[in-house]
Amino acid sequence: MQKILVTGGAGFIGSNFVHYLVANTDANVTVLDKLTYAGNPESISTLPEDRVSLVKGDIADAALVDGLVAESDVVVHYAAESHNDNSLHDPRPFLDTNIIGTYTLIEAARKHDTRFHHISTDEVYGDLELDDPERFTEQTPYNPSSPYSSTKAGSDLLVRAWVRSFGLRATISNCSNNYGPYQHVEKFIPRQITNVIDGVRPKLYGKGENVRDWIHANDHSSAVLAIIDKGRIGETYLIGADGEKNNKEVVELILEHMGQSSDAYDHVIDRPGHDLRYAIDSTKLREELGWQPSFSNFHAGIEDTIKWYRDNESWWRPQKAATEARYKEQGQ
Ligand code: NAD
Ligand code: DAU
Repeated sequence: MQKILVTGGAGFIGSNFVHYLVANTDANVTVLDKLTYAGNPESISTLPEDRVSLVKGDIADAALVDGLVAESDVVVHYAAESHNDNSLHDPRPFLDTNIIGTYTLIEAARKHDTRFHHISTDEVYGDLELDDPERFTEQTPYNPSSPYSSTKAGSDLLVRAWVRSFGLRATISNCSNNYGPYQHVEKFIPRQITNVIDGVRPKLYGKGENVRDWIHANDHSSAVLAIIDKGRIGETYLIGADGEKNNKEVVELILEHMGQSSDAYDHVIDRPGHDLRYAIDSTKLREELGWQPSFSNFHAGIEDTIKWYRDNESWWRPQKAATEARYKEQGQ
Protein backbone atom coordinates (compact mmCIF):
# COMPACT_ATOMS: atom_id res chain seq x y z
CA MET A 1 0.00 0.00 0.00
CA GLN A 2 1.51 3.33 -1.08
CA LYS A 3 1.75 6.38 1.19
CA ILE A 4 1.01 9.46 -0.88
CA LEU A 5 1.58 13.03 0.28
CA VAL A 6 -0.77 15.41 -1.56
CA THR A 7 0.05 19.10 -1.13
CA GLY A 8 -2.89 21.46 -1.61
CA GLY A 9 -5.31 18.56 -1.13
CA ALA A 10 -7.95 20.85 0.43
CA GLY A 11 -8.07 23.00 -2.71
CA PHE A 12 -10.13 22.44 -5.86
CA ILE A 13 -8.10 20.02 -7.96
CA GLY A 14 -6.15 18.54 -5.06
CA SER A 15 -9.35 17.54 -3.22
CA ASN A 16 -10.77 16.02 -6.40
CA PHE A 17 -7.54 14.00 -6.69
CA VAL A 18 -7.80 12.80 -3.08
CA HIS A 19 -11.40 11.62 -3.73
CA TYR A 20 -10.14 9.90 -6.88
CA LEU A 21 -7.31 8.14 -5.00
CA VAL A 22 -9.68 6.85 -2.32
CA ALA A 23 -12.12 5.54 -4.94
CA ASN A 24 -9.58 4.01 -7.32
CA THR A 25 -6.54 2.87 -5.27
CA ASP A 26 -5.73 1.50 -1.81
CA ALA A 27 -3.24 4.31 -1.11
CA ASN A 28 -2.97 6.01 2.26
CA VAL A 29 -3.14 9.76 1.75
CA THR A 30 -1.71 12.60 3.82
CA VAL A 31 -2.82 16.07 2.76
CA LEU A 32 -0.51 18.98 3.55
CA ASP A 33 -2.43 22.23 3.17
CA LYS A 34 -2.05 25.72 4.63
CA LEU A 35 -5.83 26.22 4.44
CA THR A 36 -5.54 29.66 2.85
CA TYR A 37 -8.74 31.39 1.70
CA ALA A 38 -8.72 28.78 -1.14
CA GLY A 39 -8.47 25.66 1.03
CA ASN A 40 -11.51 24.07 2.63
CA PRO A 41 -11.18 20.99 4.89
CA GLU A 42 -14.84 20.18 4.17
CA SER A 43 -13.86 19.23 0.63
CA ILE A 44 -12.27 16.05 2.02
CA SER A 45 -14.11 15.66 5.34
CA THR A 46 -16.44 12.88 4.13
CA LEU A 47 -13.51 10.59 3.24
CA PRO A 48 -12.59 7.70 5.60
CA GLU A 49 -10.20 8.75 8.38
CA ASP A 50 -8.19 5.55 8.04
CA ARG A 51 -7.37 6.49 4.41
CA VAL A 52 -6.95 10.29 4.53
CA SER A 53 -5.40 12.60 7.12
CA LEU A 54 -5.01 16.37 6.95
CA VAL A 55 -1.96 18.26 8.21
CA LYS A 56 -2.41 22.02 8.35
CA GLY A 57 0.88 23.65 7.37
CA ASP A 58 2.94 25.57 4.86
CA ILE A 59 4.89 23.86 2.05
CA ALA A 60 7.63 26.43 2.70
CA ASP A 61 8.10 25.11 6.27
CA ALA A 62 11.26 23.02 5.73
CA ALA A 63 11.14 21.07 9.02
CA LEU A 64 7.48 20.10 8.61
CA VAL A 65 7.97 19.19 4.95
CA ASP A 66 11.08 17.11 5.67
CA GLY A 67 9.23 14.95 8.20
CA LEU A 68 6.21 14.38 5.94
CA VAL A 69 8.28 13.63 2.82
CA ALA A 70 10.45 11.18 4.79
CA GLU A 71 7.31 9.11 5.58
CA SER A 72 5.95 9.13 1.99
CA ASP A 73 6.49 6.94 -1.08
CA VAL A 74 5.22 9.61 -3.49
CA VAL A 75 4.63 13.37 -3.30
CA VAL A 76 2.00 14.91 -5.59
CA HIS A 77 2.38 18.67 -5.47
CA TYR A 78 -0.80 20.68 -6.11
CA ALA A 79 -0.41 23.47 -3.50
CA ALA A 80 -0.17 26.90 -5.09
CA GLU A 81 -1.55 30.37 -5.18
CA SER A 82 -3.67 29.74 -8.26
CA HIS A 83 -5.72 32.79 -9.27
CA ASN A 84 -4.45 35.15 -11.98
CA ASP A 85 -6.54 38.13 -10.85
CA ASN A 86 -5.14 37.92 -7.30
CA SER A 87 -1.60 37.71 -8.67
CA LEU A 88 -2.11 41.02 -10.48
CA HIS A 89 -3.06 42.77 -7.22
CA ASP A 90 -0.65 41.10 -4.76
CA PRO A 91 2.09 38.97 -6.38
CA ARG A 92 4.15 38.27 -3.22
CA PRO A 93 2.27 35.16 -1.94
CA PHE A 94 2.70 33.66 -5.42
CA LEU A 95 6.49 33.87 -5.12
CA ASP A 96 6.46 32.53 -1.56
CA THR A 97 4.28 29.50 -2.25
CA ASN A 98 4.85 28.68 -5.90
CA ILE A 99 8.62 29.25 -5.95
CA ILE A 100 9.93 28.89 -2.37
CA GLY A 101 7.30 26.28 -1.47
CA THR A 102 8.21 24.13 -4.48
CA TYR A 103 11.93 24.55 -3.74
CA THR A 104 11.34 23.39 -0.14
CA LEU A 105 9.48 20.28 -1.32
CA ILE A 106 12.03 19.23 -3.95
CA GLU A 107 14.89 19.66 -1.51
CA ALA A 108 13.13 17.21 0.85
CA ALA A 109 12.31 14.82 -2.01
CA ARG A 110 15.98 14.92 -3.11
CA LYS A 111 17.20 14.19 0.42
CA HIS A 112 14.86 11.21 0.88
CA ASP A 113 14.96 10.05 -2.78
CA THR A 114 11.16 10.29 -2.92
CA ARG A 115 9.20 10.06 -6.18
CA PHE A 116 7.83 13.54 -6.94
CA HIS A 117 5.07 14.67 -9.29
CA HIS A 118 4.73 18.39 -9.98
CA ILE A 119 1.33 19.78 -11.03
CA SER A 120 1.53 22.71 -13.40
CA THR A 121 -0.47 24.66 -15.93
CA ASP A 122 -0.68 25.27 -19.67
CA GLU A 123 -0.33 29.00 -18.88
CA VAL A 124 3.46 28.61 -18.73
CA TYR A 125 3.37 28.59 -22.56
CA GLY A 126 1.72 32.03 -22.85
CA ASP A 127 -1.19 32.30 -25.27
CA LEU A 128 -2.17 31.51 -28.87
CA GLU A 129 -3.95 33.52 -31.55
CA LEU A 130 -7.59 32.54 -32.06
CA ASP A 131 -6.86 31.22 -35.56
CA ASP A 132 -3.50 29.55 -34.80
CA PRO A 133 -3.69 25.96 -36.11
CA GLU A 134 -0.98 24.90 -33.62
CA ARG A 135 -1.71 23.87 -30.05
CA PHE A 136 0.68 23.70 -27.07
CA THR A 137 2.97 20.65 -27.00
CA GLU A 138 5.76 19.59 -24.63
CA GLN A 139 8.17 21.37 -27.04
CA THR A 140 6.45 24.80 -26.94
CA PRO A 141 8.81 27.45 -25.48
CA TYR A 142 7.89 28.94 -22.10
CA ASN A 143 6.40 32.45 -22.37
CA PRO A 144 4.25 33.17 -19.28
CA SER A 145 2.23 36.40 -19.08
CA SER A 146 1.06 36.95 -15.49
CA PRO A 147 2.71 36.93 -12.06
CA TYR A 148 0.83 33.64 -11.41
CA SER A 149 1.96 31.89 -14.59
CA SER A 150 5.52 33.17 -14.33
CA THR A 151 5.85 31.69 -10.82
CA LYS A 152 4.43 28.38 -12.09
CA ALA A 153 6.95 28.47 -14.96
CA GLY A 154 9.71 29.15 -12.42
CA SER A 155 8.60 26.18 -10.31
CA ASP A 156 8.61 23.89 -13.38
CA LEU A 157 12.16 24.97 -14.20
CA LEU A 158 13.29 24.27 -10.64
CA VAL A 159 11.91 20.73 -10.88
CA ARG A 160 13.63 20.19 -14.24
CA ALA A 161 16.94 21.45 -12.83
CA TRP A 162 16.64 19.16 -9.77
CA VAL A 163 16.07 16.19 -12.11
CA ARG A 164 19.12 16.96 -14.18
CA SER A 165 21.52 18.16 -11.47
CA PHE A 166 20.51 15.93 -8.56
CA GLY A 167 18.71 12.96 -10.14
CA LEU A 168 15.37 13.89 -8.54
CA ARG A 169 12.83 11.20 -9.52
CA ALA A 170 10.26 13.67 -10.81
CA THR A 171 7.64 14.11 -13.53
CA ILE A 172 5.72 17.28 -14.47
CA SER A 173 2.26 17.73 -15.93
CA ASN A 174 0.82 20.91 -17.44
CA CYS A 175 -2.97 20.87 -17.62
CA SER A 176 -5.59 23.16 -19.12
CA ASN A 177 -8.56 24.80 -17.31
CA ASN A 178 -10.39 22.45 -14.93
CA TYR A 179 -14.05 22.52 -13.96
CA GLY A 180 -16.12 20.43 -11.57
CA PRO A 181 -17.08 20.28 -7.87
CA TYR A 182 -15.20 22.04 -5.04
CA GLN A 183 -13.90 24.93 -7.19
CA HIS A 184 -13.64 28.28 -5.40
CA VAL A 185 -16.28 30.87 -6.35
CA GLU A 186 -13.58 33.32 -7.50
CA LYS A 187 -13.03 31.19 -10.62
CA PHE A 188 -14.98 31.77 -13.84
CA ILE A 189 -17.49 28.89 -13.97
CA PRO A 190 -18.44 28.73 -10.24
CA ARG A 191 -18.58 32.53 -10.07
CA GLN A 192 -21.18 32.66 -12.84
CA ILE A 193 -23.22 29.69 -11.54
CA THR A 194 -23.40 31.15 -8.02
CA ASN A 195 -24.16 34.63 -9.40
CA VAL A 196 -27.17 33.22 -11.26
CA ILE A 197 -28.28 31.35 -8.09
CA ASP A 198 -28.10 34.75 -6.33
CA GLY A 199 -30.07 36.51 -9.09
CA VAL A 200 -26.97 38.42 -10.26
CA ARG A 201 -26.00 38.64 -13.96
CA PRO A 202 -22.77 36.82 -14.97
CA LYS A 203 -19.71 39.01 -15.62
CA LEU A 204 -17.70 38.57 -18.78
CA TYR A 205 -14.24 40.17 -19.01
CA GLY A 206 -13.84 42.30 -22.15
CA LYS A 207 -15.57 40.93 -25.23
CA GLY A 208 -15.67 37.35 -23.94
CA GLU A 209 -13.71 36.05 -26.94
CA ASN A 210 -10.92 34.48 -24.86
CA VAL A 211 -10.71 30.71 -25.30
CA ARG A 212 -10.00 28.16 -22.58
CA ASP A 213 -9.53 24.39 -23.12
CA TRP A 214 -11.86 22.88 -20.49
CA ILE A 215 -11.26 19.51 -18.81
CA HIS A 216 -13.21 17.90 -15.97
CA ALA A 217 -11.19 17.68 -12.72
CA ASN A 218 -11.79 13.90 -12.65
CA ASP A 219 -10.05 13.51 -16.00
CA HIS A 220 -7.12 15.56 -14.68
CA SER A 221 -6.93 13.13 -11.72
CA SER A 222 -6.94 10.01 -13.91
CA ALA A 223 -4.15 11.50 -16.04
CA VAL A 224 -2.01 12.32 -12.97
CA LEU A 225 -2.45 8.80 -11.64
CA ALA A 226 -1.40 7.36 -15.02
CA ILE A 227 1.74 9.53 -14.97
CA ILE A 228 2.62 8.47 -11.41
CA ASP A 229 2.14 4.79 -12.34
CA LYS A 230 3.66 4.71 -15.82
CA GLY A 231 5.28 8.08 -16.64
CA ARG A 232 8.97 8.27 -17.46
CA ILE A 233 11.16 10.07 -14.89
CA GLY A 234 12.25 13.52 -16.06
CA GLU A 235 9.43 13.82 -18.58
CA THR A 236 6.72 16.46 -18.96
CA TYR A 237 3.20 15.45 -20.02
CA LEU A 238 0.54 17.89 -21.25
CA ILE A 239 -3.00 17.10 -20.05
CA GLY A 240 -6.03 18.26 -22.07
CA ALA A 241 -9.34 16.92 -23.34
CA ASP A 242 -9.96 18.88 -26.59
CA GLY A 243 -12.42 21.17 -24.78
CA GLU A 244 -11.87 24.59 -26.40
CA LYS A 245 -14.69 27.08 -25.79
CA ASN A 246 -14.76 30.86 -25.66
CA ASN A 247 -15.96 32.53 -22.46
CA LYS A 248 -19.12 33.87 -24.09
CA GLU A 249 -20.16 30.34 -25.15
CA VAL A 250 -19.60 29.07 -21.59
CA VAL A 251 -21.67 31.84 -19.99
CA GLU A 252 -24.47 31.30 -22.52
CA LEU A 253 -24.47 27.58 -21.76
CA ILE A 254 -24.65 28.18 -17.99
CA LEU A 255 -27.53 30.64 -18.45
CA GLU A 256 -29.45 28.23 -20.70
CA HIS A 257 -29.00 25.31 -18.28
CA MET A 258 -30.16 27.55 -15.41
CA GLY A 259 -33.36 28.59 -17.17
CA GLN A 260 -32.26 32.15 -18.03
CA SER A 261 -32.09 34.04 -21.29
CA SER A 262 -28.70 33.32 -22.91
CA ASP A 263 -27.89 37.05 -23.25
CA ALA A 264 -28.55 37.92 -19.56
CA TYR A 265 -24.90 38.76 -18.77
CA ASP A 266 -22.80 41.95 -18.44
CA HIS A 267 -19.43 42.85 -19.95
CA VAL A 268 -16.97 44.24 -17.37
CA ILE A 269 -13.45 45.65 -17.68
CA ASP A 270 -10.89 43.22 -19.01
CA ARG A 271 -8.10 41.52 -17.03
CA PRO A 272 -4.75 43.31 -17.71
CA GLY A 273 -2.53 41.14 -19.93
CA HIS A 274 -5.45 38.69 -20.42
CA ASP A 275 -4.22 35.58 -22.30
CA LEU A 276 -6.27 35.16 -25.46
CA ARG A 277 -6.33 31.41 -26.03
CA TYR A 278 -5.01 28.17 -24.55
CA ALA A 279 -5.15 24.84 -26.41
CA ILE A 280 -3.47 21.55 -25.50
CA ASP A 281 -2.19 18.77 -27.74
CA SER A 282 -2.18 15.75 -25.38
CA THR A 283 -0.94 13.21 -27.95
CA LYS A 284 2.10 12.23 -25.86
CA LEU A 285 0.00 11.38 -22.80
CA ARG A 286 -2.57 9.47 -24.86
CA GLU A 287 -0.10 7.49 -27.01
CA GLU A 288 2.60 6.80 -24.42
CA LEU A 289 0.41 6.11 -21.38
CA GLY A 290 -2.88 5.09 -23.05
CA TRP A 291 -4.83 7.81 -21.19
CA GLN A 292 -8.24 9.01 -22.39
CA PRO A 293 -10.69 11.49 -20.87
CA SER A 294 -14.09 10.12 -19.77
CA PHE A 295 -16.01 13.43 -19.55
CA SER A 296 -16.29 14.19 -23.27
CA ASN A 297 -19.70 15.91 -23.06
CA PHE A 298 -19.14 19.48 -21.81
CA HIS A 299 -22.90 20.21 -21.65
CA ALA A 300 -23.47 17.24 -19.33
CA GLY A 301 -20.41 18.19 -17.25
CA ILE A 302 -21.68 21.75 -16.83
CA GLU A 303 -25.15 20.46 -15.91
CA ASP A 304 -23.60 18.23 -13.19
CA THR A 305 -21.50 21.15 -11.94
CA ILE A 306 -24.55 23.45 -11.73
CA LYS A 307 -26.36 20.74 -9.77
CA TRP A 308 -23.38 20.38 -7.42
CA TYR A 309 -23.35 24.13 -6.61
CA ARG A 310 -27.14 24.11 -6.14
CA ASP A 311 -26.91 21.11 -3.77
CA ASN A 312 -23.86 22.36 -1.84
CA GLU A 313 -24.63 25.97 -1.04
CA SER A 314 -23.28 25.56 2.52
CA TRP A 315 -19.86 24.73 1.01
CA TRP A 316 -19.53 27.93 -1.10
CA ARG A 317 -21.80 30.47 0.61
CA PRO A 318 -19.26 31.57 3.29
CA GLN A 319 -16.82 32.71 0.52
CA LYS A 320 -19.24 34.40 -1.84
CA ALA A 321 -19.79 37.90 -0.38
CA ALA A 322 -16.08 38.58 0.25
CA THR A 323 -15.18 37.33 -3.24
CA GLU A 324 -17.72 39.59 -4.94
CA ALA A 325 -16.66 42.56 -2.78
CA ARG A 326 -13.08 42.04 -4.04
CA TYR A 327 -14.25 41.92 -7.66
CA LYS A 328 -16.40 45.04 -7.16
CA GLU A 329 -13.35 47.01 -6.00
CA GLN A 330 -11.60 45.98 -9.26
CA GLY A 331 -14.62 47.01 -11.37
CA GLN A 332 -15.25 43.37 -12.29
P1 NAD B 1 -6.78 26.18 -5.41
O1 NAD B 1 -6.43 27.61 -5.23
O2 NAD B 1 -8.22 25.77 -5.45
O3 NAD B 1 -6.11 25.30 -4.24
C1 NAD B 1 -4.80 25.54 -3.80
C2 NAD B 1 -4.62 24.84 -2.46
O4 NAD B 1 -3.26 25.03 -2.03
C3 NAD B 1 -5.52 25.38 -1.35
O5 NAD B 1 -6.09 24.34 -0.61
C4 NAD B 1 -4.57 26.20 -0.48
O6 NAD B 1 -4.96 26.26 0.88
C5 NAD B 1 -3.27 25.42 -0.67
N1 NAD B 1 -2.08 26.26 -0.41
C6 NAD B 1 -1.81 27.50 -0.90
N2 NAD B 1 -0.63 27.93 -0.43
C7 NAD B 1 -0.12 26.93 0.34
C8 NAD B 1 1.08 26.77 1.08
N3 NAD B 1 2.01 27.74 1.12
N4 NAD B 1 1.28 25.61 1.74
C9 NAD B 1 0.34 24.62 1.72
N5 NAD B 1 -0.82 24.73 1.05
C10 NAD B 1 -1.04 25.86 0.36
O7 NAD B 1 -5.99 25.72 -6.71
P2 NAD B 1 -6.41 24.66 -7.83
O8 NAD B 1 -7.20 25.34 -8.87
O9 NAD B 1 -6.92 23.44 -7.19
O10 NAD B 1 -4.96 24.36 -8.45
C11 NAD B 1 -4.16 23.32 -7.90
C12 NAD B 1 -2.89 23.19 -8.72
O11 NAD B 1 -3.23 22.86 -10.06
C13 NAD B 1 -2.04 24.46 -8.79
O12 NAD B 1 -0.69 24.06 -8.73
C14 NAD B 1 -2.39 25.05 -10.13
O13 NAD B 1 -1.31 25.81 -10.63
C15 NAD B 1 -2.62 23.81 -10.94
N6 NAD B 1 -3.53 23.93 -12.10
C16 NAD B 1 -4.78 24.46 -11.93
C17 NAD B 1 -5.66 24.49 -13.02
C18 NAD B 1 -7.09 25.00 -12.87
O14 NAD B 1 -7.81 25.06 -13.85
N7 NAD B 1 -7.54 25.38 -11.69
C19 NAD B 1 -5.24 24.00 -14.26
C20 NAD B 1 -3.93 23.50 -14.40
C21 NAD B 1 -3.10 23.46 -13.31
O1 DAU C 1 -5.18 27.20 -17.86
C1 DAU C 1 -5.03 26.71 -16.56
C2 DAU C 1 -5.33 27.82 -15.56
O2 DAU C 1 -6.74 27.99 -15.56
C3 DAU C 1 -4.81 27.50 -14.15
O3 DAU C 1 -3.41 27.46 -14.18
C4 DAU C 1 -5.27 28.56 -13.15
O4 DAU C 1 -4.89 28.18 -11.83
C5 DAU C 1 -6.79 28.65 -13.21
O5 DAU C 1 -7.24 29.69 -12.34
C6 DAU C 1 -7.23 28.95 -14.65
O6 DAU C 1 -6.78 30.28 -15.05
P1 DAU C 1 -7.74 31.28 -15.86
O7 DAU C 1 -7.24 32.66 -15.63
O8 DAU C 1 -7.93 30.81 -17.26
O9 DAU C 1 -9.13 30.98 -15.06
P2 DAU C 1 -10.30 31.94 -14.53
O10 DAU C 1 -11.34 31.03 -13.98
O11 DAU C 1 -9.81 33.03 -13.66
O12 DAU C 1 -10.85 32.60 -15.86
C7 DAU C 1 -11.24 31.83 -16.99
C8 DAU C 1 -11.56 32.80 -18.12
O13 DAU C 1 -12.74 33.54 -17.79
C9 DAU C 1 -10.50 33.84 -18.36
O14 DAU C 1 -10.44 34.11 -19.75
C10 DAU C 1 -10.99 35.07 -17.61
C11 DAU C 1 -12.50 34.95 -17.76
N1 DAU C 1 -13.33 35.49 -16.65
C12 DAU C 1 -13.04 35.14 -15.38
C13 DAU C 1 -13.83 35.56 -14.33
C14 DAU C 1 -13.51 35.19 -12.89
C15 DAU C 1 -14.45 36.25 -16.96
O15 DAU C 1 -14.75 36.55 -18.13
N2 DAU C 1 -15.26 36.66 -15.93
C16 DAU C 1 -15.00 36.36 -14.63
O16 DAU C 1 -15.77 36.75 -13.73
